[in-house]
Amino acid sequence: MFITLEGIDGSGKSTQSEKIAEWLESRTGRRTVRTFEPGGWQGGGAIRGFILNTPGLSAMSELLLFLADRSEHISRVILPALRQDCNVLCERWNESTLAYQAGGHELNPSHVRRIIRACSFPEPDVKILLDISPETAIERVKSRKNSPDKFEDEGIKLLRNVAAFYRLIAEEDPAGFVRVVCDGLTEDEVFTKITAGLEARLWRSR
Ligand SMILES: Nc1ncnc2c1ncn2[C@@H]1O[C@H](COP(=O)(O)OP(=O)(O)OP(=O)(O)O)[C@@H](O)[C@H]1O
Ligand SMILES: [Mg+2]
Repeated sequence: MFITLEGIDGSGKSTQSEKIAEWLESRTGRRTVRTFEPGGWQGGGAIRGFILNTPGLSAMSELLLFLADRSEHISRVILPALRQDCNVLCERWNESTLAYQAGGHELNPSHVRRIIRACSFPEPDVKILLDISPETAIERVKSRKNSPDKFEDEGIKLLRNVAAFYRLIAEEDPAGFVRVVCDGLTEDEVFTKITAGLEARLWRSR
């Protein structure tokens, strides 16, 4: 299984990834590799730091750097894990690129889609969207200890656009997404909805 977790900063991806990985291991009897983007490969920290901490990068440069990062991540982490019959659970994937670079940074969405499609990256078996209001997400991120990156700094307007674009993407591909509206839900309540969605998408439909 190749499963991705999507959602704006502070939506709960890392929190849920830990829970889902444990659940998925017992559900499938296979080891689950947890990973993330950008930078989820050995040496990827440099590209992550560059993308997140370089002021004034153009939206197009960001897009191309994210795709370069994904390309390395695929060949060094994701494909090797899938070949070893592991599940892969990845925080952020193509839909992050679309939601942030087209929805947030206003690159032409059809151009971004075309560039992503041309990369022919592996398609997840299912994508999980943690749908949350930017207000709730920002409150959560503020109370987090490590310092915010530049996307979090760009604030609420950007996150609103990104969240709206994510919703659009999920509506276009209802069979491909488990979408959970997270506002007002505890971690466990979100988790229960995710596993119900995964059961329905990955097993009941087969
Ligand atoms: N359902 C929830 N209710 C309240 N707080 C939550 C919930 N889920 C996660 N949190 C808290 O919100 C904060 C953000 O969660 P988390 O780090 O998992 O988000 P993230 O999507 O991985 O963010 P980022 O994109 O910045 O990595 C954390 O402090 C986490 O403990
Ligand atoms: Mg995280």
